[in-house]
Amino acid sequence: MRSSIANLKDLNSPVKVLFTGYLCTVGIGYFFALIQVLFTHGMADGKFGLSVDDIVYSYYGNRSGSVMETKLNGSMKENATDQQRFNIIQWVREGADIKTYKAHGINKIIEERCVMCHNKGSSSLPDFSDFEQLKELAKQDSGATFGSLTRVSHIHLFGISFIFMFVGIIFNFSESTSILSKSVVVGMPYVFLISDILSWWLTKFHPMFAWIVIIAGMGMAISFMFMWATAILEMWMYHFVYIGTDRAMQIKKCKDAVLAVYFSINNEKNRSFVKSVFFTVKRMILLAIESLMKFIDTAKKEK
Ligand code: HEC
Repeated sequence: MRSSIANLKDLNSPVKVLFTGYLCTVGIGYFFALIQVLFTHGMADGKFGLSVDDIVYSYYGNRSGSVMETKLNGSMKENATDQQRFNIIQWVREGADIKTYKAHGINKIIEERCVMCHNKGSSSLPDFSDFEQLKELAKQDSGATFGSLTRVSHIHLFGISFIFMFVGIIFNFSESTSILSKSVVVGMPYVFLISDILSWWLTKFHPMFAWIVIIAGMGMAISFMFMWATAILEMWMYHFVYIGTDRAMQIKKCKDAVLAVYFSINNEKNRSFVKSVFFTVKRMILLAIESLMKFIDTAKKEK
């Protein structure tokens, strides 16, 4: 069934460029969001890559241990030797007492290995020169705090719903999807977004719900990719992808188009232009290296 609004392939070029620019930008944003998730939650269990354990540790916490212990086996592993980590964990398990802090030499390890990052100067990290802050992290790990969950929840709900609003509007101009599947694909992200946020809170109470976090995250990604790819293909490659059923013919047409562009660019004039740009850039890099070497030399002599 044809939709009653304008179709993506018939839009003016400026509108197509606008839509494409937006889609590419949020696409890159999504990519960085995944990297961010991989490095914060992904390392929660000490192993690289996202797993159910990571989600459980992040929201429910590792109730048999403390944040200190989890981090020392996770993202802080590289910051101390095995022996030092063992000593700190031992001390944490014995109750993180201020008396044994000095007696067991834990203060030395912390000063030597941790305070260079965990000090007053860094506003986002706990300050380990203050014993109270250290002690706080040595208590049982009960996962994300209500404060942080509330903050992240509202940012996600407001922010992500906007992204899916615009991607959804653009996708609604497509014509290759039926009205029913369109409604499903456009609505899905919102259902998954709400269940995702809800499941963070539920995981805080029971680790079982970590699965919903993963399923909802994947559902959101799938509907995003589907809307993204449909919109881009209809705008720029409608004739190749959606008209006719002869795939071999379509591939040939695609190839011919790419080759035509290639041959129209690849002529003697352009080649010499590219060559001269290349040589100028090379010359500039060499000059930069040369003056850098000179600078280092004089700096050394002055010392
Ligand atoms: C190179 C800088 C650096 C050093 C050295 C370092 N940390 Fe960290 N630490 C960080 C950063 C950045 C974070 C926040 C990211 C994260 O949680 O992985 C962090 C987070 C933590 C947390 C979690 C804090 C919280 O509020 O959740 C603990 C606990 C911790 N570090 C312990 C240590 C201990 C113990 C040492 C010394 C053996 C240490 N760190 C050494 C940079 C450092």
